[in-house]
Amino acid sequence: MSQDHDRRLLDAGKKNLNQTQMKPKVWQFIGFKSIIETAMCQRVYASTCKKEDVALFFVRNKFYAINATCPHVGGPLDTIVDMEDLLRREVPHVICPWHHYVYNLETGIAEEGLKAEIYNVKVEEEKVYILHHAKLSLKPFETEI
Ligand code: FES
Repeated sequence: MSQDHDRRLLDAGKKNLNQTQMKPKVWQFIGFKSIIETAMCQRVYASTCKKEDVALFFVRNKFYAINATCPHVGGPLDTIVDMEDLLRREVPHVICPWHHYVYNLETGIAEEGLKAEIYNVKVEEEKVYILHHAKLSLKPFETEI
C-alpha cells in the first residue's frame, strides 16, 4: 500500500475517533441494581463499536466502570484473572489477562503507565446508569453479533 493510502486511512480513523469523542455523554440506563449486582464483573455493550464496550464491576457494594478493551494491545478487561488481587487492595484493580497490566478501577491508571478510560456510574431508585456517549446494553447489539 502507498503512503498516501495509509495517510488517508489514518486521517479517516482520526476523524471517526474525533466524531465519537465529541458526542456528549449522557446517563445510559443499564438495568436494575438487584440484577446487575449479582455479577462481580460483566461486559456492557456499546452501540457504536466493540472498543467502546464497558467492563462493569461490582466490588464491595460499589460499581466501577472501565473501558473493556485494554489500551495496551486490546486485551479484554471484563475478565477476572485473579479474584484475590482484585480484592486485596483498598481500591480494586483488574489485571489484563493478556500481558497482566494492572488497572486501578477508580482512576483507570495501570501500574505500568497506561490509562484506560473510566466512566461514572450512578444508582438512582435501584436503577444503574453509566455516563457514556453511546447507547449501552447488557446484550450485544445486532451489529456486534
Ligand atoms: S493487552 Fe492488556 S496488557 Fe497487553
